[in-house]
Amino acid sequence: DPEDMISITFVGKDGEEKDIKVPVGMSMLEAAHENDIELEGKAWKIPPAPSFYHSDIFLCSSLILCFYVTAGACEGSLACSTCHVIVMDMEYFNKLEDPADEENDMLDLAFGLTETSRLGCQVIAKPELDGMRLAIPAATRNFAVDGYIPKPH
Ligand code: FES
Repeated sequence: DPEDMISITFVGKDGEEKDIKVPVGMSMLEAAHENDIELEGKAWKIPPAPSFYHSDIFLCSSLILCFYVTAGACEGSLACSTCHVIVMDMEYFNKLEDPADEENDMLDLAFGLTETSRLGCQVIAKPELDGMRLAIPAATRNFAVDGYIPKPH
């Protein structure tokens, strides 16, 4: 039933947009994964290989122990903040459930925090969110997009 699907647009760091359909009840983290959209959230860039996906620690070829934290590293248990997304319109931001204290605590650790930041694993698709646009933050504290107020740490 198409009424159980909503449209969501992910806007990448380079401004490229990807429109996807998300079933009601699914988190934005899951929706991004299902559509091959990478949320930022890597601690260090290492040549990506599918088998490394979701592994937190592995040995690089240089024999330096590296941490590789991918988006959704904690699988939605509010322990990583790698699933950080920025709701681009306040109108939609206000339709979201209020964040739990745990989410706010994790968001404080996220790079590029803004006033409309949320954790993607905690944003669940519902009919009122049809048309929502989510920006994927860059892994830098200098991230700035017109209209966003970076939240001071
Ligand atoms: Fe870890 Fe969302 S996936 S906090």
